[in-house]
Amino acid sequence: MTSTKGLEGIVATTSSVSSIIDDVLTYQGYDINDLTEHASFEEVVYILWNGKLPNEEELKSFSNELASHAEVPQQVIDQLKSLPLDKVHPMAVLRTAISTLGLFDEDADKMDEQANRTKALKIQAQIPTIVTAFSRIRQGQEPVAPNKELSFAANFLYMLKGELPEDLEVTAFNKALVLHADHELNASTFTARVCVATLSDVYSGMTAAIGALKGPLHGGANEAVMKMLSEIGEVDQVESYIKNAFEKKEKIMGFGHRVYKNGDPRAKFLRDMSKQLTDTTGETKWYDMSIRVEELVTKEKGLLPNVDFYSASVYHSLGIEHDLFTPIFAISRTSGWTAHILEQYANNRLIRPRAEYVGPGKQNYVALEQR
Ligand SMILES: CC(C)(COP(=O)(O)OP(=O)(O)OC[C@H]1O[C@@H](n2cnc3c(N)ncnc32)[C@H](O)[C@@H]1OP(=O)(O)O)[C@@H](O)C(=O)NCCC(=O)NCCS
Repeated sequence: MTSTKGLEGIVATTSSVSSIIDDVLTYQGYDINDLTEHASFEEVVYILWNGKLPNEEELKSFSNELASHAEVPQQVIDQLKSLPLDKVHPMAVLRTAISTLGLFDEDADKMDEQANRTKALKIQAQIPTIVTAFSRIRQGQEPVAPNKELSFAANFLYMLKGELPEDLEVTAFNKALVLHADHELNASTFTARVCVATLSDVYSGMTAAIGALKGPLHGGANEAVMKMLSEIGEVDQVESYIKNAFEKKEKIMGFGHRVYKNGDPRAKFLRDMSKQLTDTTGETKWYDMSIRVEELVTKEKGLLPNVDFYSASVYHSLGIEHDLFTPIFAISRTSGWTAHILEQYANNRLIRPRAEYVGPGKQNYVALEQR
């Protein structure tokens, strides 16, 4: 029995939710290049859960249904208010809040398909309400109630800032949500599938997935990119910063990928958005620094930017606090996690791999008083 470090190249399941073939990412067969240009996030969630494009009526009714579930139980808000919000990371708060949400859902352990689809819908609808409530509570403000008339993307920005967003902001944020919605068997999705394959409930699968996304090698990379750009500070400092990082053998966050070797197809959209948004805010240095970092890392290491690299300057330009970048990733990826959870339940078998034993050989037990 030999192991493969990090399960690289191991095909662990079949799935029709999304695919990465020849560096092209598709959701249920639909190319993300088309979806990013044309689809709303609500449409993408529908596709991931139903495997087909909605017609106009289906999309309208699905979007209304999603919006109708956006309120969260008051107990969840009360719990947020009781947490040491100035000392903990929002991903830890989110992990706790989603778990709490399950405590107030009477159907949390109901395992028929319809009950599980309803839970997916509720979690997808409520996760932005939780993230924005958290952000406002820690600033001493009351949460803003969801506005059912707004799109998913617009409503998030509205609940976050308490004012209606500009069209360009909504378009950019919608695209970012579409691009992060699903990504085959990434670490957090695999975690969710392993969890629910024991026939544990949807909330447990989601909580496990959020825990996996939190790490800087996965979703936490977008916040780490912004930290790096902030530390660099100015375009003329990029070269010395990156050279120093290379010398210290540090990883440059937002670069490299386990699966894509010729570039992440999502990065170009975020690069374009970063340019457009930083031109609008006038803070072009975030885009300029990012471009320079990309030039150097690609030239020196042959590494290309992944989805997290340009997300950082996009979210920053939308006026979003840096530690909310990864929770935003979670808001979008909830659509993919729940699609995979539903798929796992529909054709389940316990996921239980083996380990290659590398510990000591047979040892003799010695009685405590003789050691
Ligand atoms: C994404 C990532 C975790 C993939 O990991 P992986 O497939 O296990 O690849 P490894 O970490 O084994 O990297 C392979 C080699 O490339 C180097 N490398 C990979 N990503 C790097 C980066 N961002 N900066 C510098 N070097 C990097 C590694 O140091 C390693 O070099 P070595 O063989 O000389 O030791 C990895 O590229 C990474 O840590 N990137 C930064 C974090 C990030 O952006 N995560 C978000 C992913 S969407």
